[in-house]
Amino acid sequence: MNTPSSRKNVQFIVYFIGFTAALAGLLFGLDVGVISGALAFIKKEFLADLSPVQADSRSEFIVSALLWGAVFGTLVSGFLSSRFGRRKTILVSAVVFVAGALACAVSPDENFLIGARFLLGIGVGVASFTAPLYLSEISPQSVRGSMISMYQLMITIGILLAFLSDTWLAKYATFGGQTGEHWRIMLGIIAIPAVVMFVGVLFLPESPRWLFLKGFQDHAVAVFRQMKLDEAEIAAEVKEIEDSAKVKQNGWQLLSSNVNFRRAIGLGIGLQVIQQLTGINVIMYYAPKIFELAGFEDVNEQMWGTVVVGITNVLATFIAIAFVDRLGRKPIMYAGFVTMGAAMVTVGTLFNMGIEKNPSLGYPAIIALLVFIIGFAMSAGPIIWVICSEIYPLAGRDLGVSCSTTTNWVVNAIVGQTFLTLINTVGGGNTFLLYGGMNVLFIIFFVLFVPETKGISLEHIERNLMSGLQLRKIGR
Ligand code: BGC
Repeated sequence: MNTPSSRKNVQFIVYFIGFTAALAGLLFGLDVGVISGALAFIKKEFLADLSPVQADSRSEFIVSALLWGAVFGTLVSGFLSSRFGRRKTILVSAVVFVAGALACAVSPDENFLIGARFLLGIGVGVASFTAPLYLSEISPQSVRGSMISMYQLMITIGILLAFLSDTWLAKYATFGGQTGEHWRIMLGIIAIPAVVMFVGVLFLPESPRWLFLKGFQDHAVAVFRQMKLDEAEIAAEVKEIEDSAKVKQNGWQLLSSNVNFRRAIGLGIGLQVIQQLTGINVIMYYAPKIFELAGFEDVNEQMWGTVVVGITNVLATFIAIAFVDRLGRKPIMYAGFVTMGAAMVTVGTLFNMGIEKNPSLGYPAIIALLVFIIGFAMSAGPIIWVICSEIYPLAGRDLGVSCSTTTNWVVNAIVGQTFLTLINTVGGGNTFLLYGGMNVLFIIFFVLFVPETKGISLEHIERNLMSGLQLRKIGR
């Protein structure tokens, strides 16, 4: 029966599922954010005997090992989640997180730490693949956008917690010239949310769409009953999924034989390239450095400034959660690109006006930077994950999401590794102008190729895609 209290119960179940799966995002954010603060202390402990240049290059390995682990993790997770299911794959990622975090914490030297960070990266990669995919397949379509956005919210909370602990570490970890072992605590403590996720996921149902694909119809219907009470709704959902599950080709076979699937893969890859080329991680990884360039010389000021960036990132994500299923994906993206473009161009212009010699330009630059973060967090942050988990046909969804998520990590690594070189070659101002210009150009990509997917079922999107409709129309 569809009484208000049973509806409430359903909402509770849906949000419990959303929250637990989204914990994968928290781990993603924590792991990505934590290293910038811990690095200086790790260098002191492991790399003190090396020349500064050698020490920098070893540190780069320590930082990027996680990103390359994530690339590897997303590549294998397509296979894992297709074979063993979404739920078991999230469980695997939780185990890898625990092992990786503990290994980081007990590292005896830098080589061990690099290996441990690579292992942790595999967990991050597998989780960043599976969680949005699972959320898209299990959510009722009326709240699908906001459920996947919860995953992004958790990423931002993870990054914020990491920034806070970086700040704590910078302030308190060194006493009387002695470096504490606090960095080990910071890296190891991440095992705790991973255990919480593992236990929570044990209570989650498997994705009904995966169950259908593997021929477990009754089990899939039972999952729908657990989440929705309306039998008519369940019957309609089942009818639609049955048609998609009839496709017996796997992702690779679809890729070689079906041009419509290839178009969706191209779209997913394009979207993730765009997400990273907005320039978000330039700010996430180098925020203290940007504060320094903007004239804030005190390390404390830089660290607290970074925390403000983290808080803004969390809060603005709520804008997406509130509006993604009401206004739709595309209007929010347009607003986001205009905001990000304008903000980056402002930062670039202020830098070119000689910010270092003119401290009065520092605050306007930081405000523009925060406006950029708002633009990203309300749009490209969550919504690109949302669209990427909606556009693929069921039979090729694993491969599709694997391709787009791998792209996210590869471009993420490239952006991270080229930022300082770009600043040194074309200057800080021009680097920001470049990113600003790109944000404006991305609007054209959205107008031409990106569908509005609000409020329609994944199967409806699939039928439109496979019938050869233009990509931007597959959401109608
Ligand atoms: C991106 C990450 C980024 C984070 C910032 C995510 O959607 O994929 O690369 O660091 O948002 O909040």
